[in-house]
Amino acid sequence: MTRKLYIKTYGCQMNVYDSARMAEVLAPLGYTSTDRPDEADMILLNTCHIREKAAEKLFSDLGRLRQLKMLKADAGEALVLGVAGCVAQAEGAEILARAPYVDLVLGPQTYHRLPDMVARLQLGRGPVLDTEFPAVAKFDSLPETQAPQGVSAFLSVQEGCDKFCTFCVVPYTRGAEFSRPAAAIRAEARRLIALGTRELTLLGQNVNAYHGEGLDGAEWGLGRLIRMLAEEPGLLRLRYTTSHPRDMDDDLIAAHREVAILMPFLHLPVQSGSDRMLEAMNRRHTVADYRRIVDRLRTARSDLALSSDFIVGFPGETDEDFAATITLIRDIGYAQAYSFKYSPRPGTPAALSEDQVADEVKSERLQILHELLQQGQRDFNLSCQNRTLPVLFERPGRHPGQLVGRSPFMQGVHAQAPARCEGAVLPVRITGVGPNSLAGEVEMAEVKA
Ligand code: 5AD
Ligand code: SF4
Repeated sequence: MTRKLYIKTYGCQMNVYDSARMAEVLAPLGYTSTDRPDEADMILLNTCHIREKAAEKLFSDLGRLRQLKMLKADAGEALVLGVAGCVAQAEGAEILARAPYVDLVLGPQTYHRLPDMVARLQLGRGPVLDTEFPAVAKFDSLPETQAPQGVSAFLSVQEGCDKFCTFCVVPYTRGAEFSRPAAAIRAEARRLIALGTRELTLLGQNVNAYHGEGLDGAEWGLGRLIRMLAEEPGLLRLRYTTSHPRDMDDDLIAAHREVAILMPFLHLPVQSGSDRMLEAMNRRHTVADYRRIVDRLRTARSDLALSSDFIVGFPGETDEDFAATITLIRDIGYAQAYSFKYSPRPGTPAALSEDQVADEVKSERLQILHELLQQGQRDFNLSCQNRTLPVLFERPGRHPGQLVGRSPFMQGVHAQAPARCEGAVLPVRITGVGPNSLAGEVEMAEVKA
């Protein structure tokens, strides 16, 4: 029997990865993916708790789905409604209390038990809640990837976080840090490569804190893991995200010099350019530490492009603190970056601070930062005009005969190229620069008679 599954994914790449795994876990039960919620037999909302009012948004989405569920019930069809991800982890039973028409609530660490939950549901004893933390068990019991995951795919190598930045819910929703063994990661990488993947992005909330069991039984860091994967035939590119400045160790920095397929683009969030704020955020590094790390990375790989996250209006942030962030941004020069207004998360220390910054001030600072970062991105993109960049083509573009892919620096690039070039890296001369993507022409090798 075939049933249709619709998964709506909110938030980070980790959730995108988890959604793909959930679809795989459910495939043996006859579920195939659909992109139409109205024809689904099961709808899973894979939620994210980072953004503001995540729970409120979830309940309003659920309200809409309740209508759909009632319509289907009128037509004699069942719709299984599930809430997964970090909001499910944080809210747990509250979801079933406020939205009793929800059938499944599962945290990020339990989705491997989905078939079991579906079976329990079929017993008709009401909704199923499973938000425990058996991280090891999850990775051990996930099925092997069977479906192609695309030219560029994610591979989860690490989960959870022990850093406890005072604004962040991740240590509470994703739990303690856990690193998968290198052998399991290599096996998954090989399966993905066999299914056509050419670029892997290694994922983890705190990916460079990776400290898994190596092939030799010793503990390996991320640098060592990257060197192992770089040996895999067929793999053309490696990336990793998201990193913490504290965990940028010598070996990982050296890998940027030595591993050719490690791409020269790094998302290394600093959050603020003020030591006072970094301290209050419990980031456990100073601005000078961060600058030093960036210098060392750029010494290892001179063309490294950087990205970051910034929070404005963290409790107690003064005009001077904010000015220090602007100075840091000007000095470093980011190829792209994200900026957020601080938003208190229940259960995190910063939410209890008396020094909350007024919303108008936050909005003003966000606006300034956003413009500065946009300008930086435009400048970086403009610096690529007329250069020839290697582009890994991933999929057909919007126009006939076009393919889209990415530059080493994560910029989207489109160019006329035959479909068979999907999955290949070709030299592309950049002829057009937009704020968010580039256009170019594939450079043909000169054919000598
Ligand atoms: N308020 C604002 N931004 C936040 N982030 C995480 N928690 C909060 C919060 N409470 C931002 C950080 C992090 C990114 C993923 O989201 O900048 O790096
Ligand atoms: Fe959250 Fe990242 Fe800090 Fe961990 S290191 S607490 S995931 S912001």
